[in-house]
Parts: sequence; structure tokens; C-alpha cells
Amino acid sequence: MKILITGAKGQLGSELAHCLETMRAEIGPIPPAYEGAGVHTVDYDGLDISDAAAVDAWFAQHGPYDIVFNCAAFTNVDGCEADEAAAYAVNARGAANVARAAQACGAKMVHISTDYVFPGTDEAPRTEEDPTGPISAYGRTKLAGEEAVAGACGRAFIVRTAWLYGHTGKNFAKTMMRLARENGGISVVADQVGNPTSANDLAYELLRLACTDGYGVYHCTNNGTCSWYDFACAVVDMAGIPCRKEPLTSEEYKERFPQSADRPAFSSLDNKRLRDTIGDDMRPWREALGAYLDNLERGEL
Ligand SMILES: NC(=O)c1ccc[n+]([C@@H]2O[C@H](COP(=O)([O-])OP(=O)(O)OC[C@H]3O[C@@H](n4cnc5c(N)ncnc54)[C@H](OP(=O)(O)O)[C@@H]3O)[C@@H](O)[C@H]2O)c1
Repeated sequence: MKILITGAKGQLGSELAHCLETMRAEIGPIPPAYEGAGVHTVDYDGLDISDAAAVDAWFAQHGPYDIVFNCAAFTNVDGCEADEAAAYAVNARGAANVARAAQACGAKMVHISTDYVFPGTDEAPRTEEDPTGPISAYGRTKLAGEEAVAGACGRAFIVRTAWLYGHTGKNFAKTMMRLARENGGISVVADQVGNPTSANDLAYELLRLACTDGYGVYHCTNNGTCSWYDFACAVVDMAGIPCRKEPLTSEEYKERFPQSADRPAFSSLDNKRLRDTIGDDMRPWREALGAYLDNLERGEL
């Protein structure tokens, strides 16, 4: 089996590569089908997915692949708002370039999308059948990416996740720990809710899913819903960092950071299709966060 991971230095890409290297995720062993797989990892510095010719050249030189995990994306939500064209180039056109190349070599594609494709106006977890309606540039470009991938690749899994944290790079959990230590306090939005999700748990489910031929759209987050404020409090409490905790409304946050993008108020996802197909192995979010904090190397903080 030959596998390509794009965006391999990011949070999810690096967890996928780690799972394939060790044949294990935190939840358990990954499917034996991956034993001995040839895994190619590449990031922005080696392959810009928004460059169609470069993507084709990469596949011609290194392919064909059996599975392509597209983890490359423009993920800075406020940055997307400031430059939607640049975000579209990666999240929509880039995704389409990878999907066309995957299709041409007969590969399955696992493409990652987001809860931000939903408007977040309904107070019930969204299933895969619910209508989309993004309210931010990030959400619009990611939705365009979903559509492009579905149109270009006949063997695509489009997996929406949310509020990811992994061991590589920056994330909300690491930022909260840093701010709590540096400032002695954190101020966090308490009226936006969603599903904090371990990148390692997600990698495990993606690897299981990619062994099937149940193509289409999936939701995959850790189980349970909370606000950013609840998430932040859990991070600092579990990490044992005493600090002041200030809940903010979205309005108050916007007054302090006027350039920030609008975010869905209620963006919880329901892993319905996962449950109905391969089974939902995603842990409750607090359990996954605890395991993440236990495994954090001190030097990374
Ligand atoms: N993070 C979240 O909370 C979250 C939530 C929902 C969904 N998702 C989705 O989950 C997936 C993985 O997210 P993540 O958190 O792992 O993202 P990440 O840590 O930001 O990693 C994305 C990687 O893609 C690279 N990249 C950016 N532009 C590229 C380009 N034109 N060509 C090739 N590589 C490029 C980035 O490189 P640079 O760092 O050099 O730019 C980075 O290494 C993405 O599709 C994202 O939209 C993430």
C-alpha cells in the first residue's frame, strides 16, 4: 500500500504520520492493512497544493497512491477573512487539484473539512444531512473544497471535524496554558459551543474509515459539547495551572478584537454516519484531552 499525506507538518498530518509509523494511536492499534505501507509525507515547503502543475508533477514522480490524505489547508480563520482569495486557492482549488490527481491514479482520497460549513444557528448537533451555510470566509472556502473534491474524485471521504488539537504546532489548548502561565488569567468566549477534538483520535478514525469503501461525507469529533470557555477551563484545570478565568460573550470578544471573523454560535457535530457504518470510537472530549495532556512533553509547552 502506498499513501500520501499532504500538510504533513500540521496538527493532523503529523498525527497520521505518527500513527502509521508506530501502527498505534492513543485509542488503540491501527488496522493491520497499513503494516508495511509506503508513506510519503509532504507539506507546503515541498508541494504547494494550490499549484495544479506541481501537484500533477508530484503524482507523476512519486505516485500512484492507494490512499491520499489531504491535510493541507489554510486554517487561520481570521487570516481567511482578511484574504479570502488566498484561502480559496488552498482550501478549494488546492483540494480540487489533489482530488483530480487522486482520481487519475485510482486512489481513495480522505479530505478534511470543518464544522464551520454550518451557520451554527440551530441548537442541536448537526448531522451529515443538515443544510450547510457558512458565515465566514474559512467556512465558505472549505465548503467549496468539499464540493470540488466530491465532484473530482469518485472515491472520496469528506470528513468534517472541529476544534482540533495535536502535538505539533500551535493550538487553542497550548495557547490557553501559555496565557494562563504568562498572564495569570484567561478571557474566553462562553457563548460559542462545539466539540474539542484530539487530532490523534481523529487520525485513528480516518485510518479505519479509509479501509472501507463507504465514500461520502462524515462528521468525526470527540463526543460531547462544550463552550470555548469550558474547554479552556478544562485545559488549565487538568494541566494544574491556577489562574483567573473570565467568560466573554462573542460581542465582548469582538469589541476587543474587531478584525476577528464571525464564528458559528452552536457548531456541535453529530457523528451519525460514523456510528451507522464503522462505529464511533471517538472518546468523550474530556477523556481525550486528559490523555493528550498526559502525553505532552514538557519541552513542547
Ligand atoms: N484546526 C482546527 O481546529 C480544525 C477544525 C476543523 C477542521 N480542520 C481541518 O482539518 C485539517 C487539518 O487541520 P490542522 O489543524 O492539522 O491544520 P494545520 O495544523 O494548520 O496544518 C495544515 C498544514 O497545511 C499546510 N499548508 C497550508 N497551505 C498549503 C498549501 N498551499 N500547500 C500545501 N500545504 C499547505 C500548512 O503549512 P503552513 O503552516 O506552512 O501554512 C500546515 O502545515 C484542515 O483541512 C482543516 O481545515 C481543522
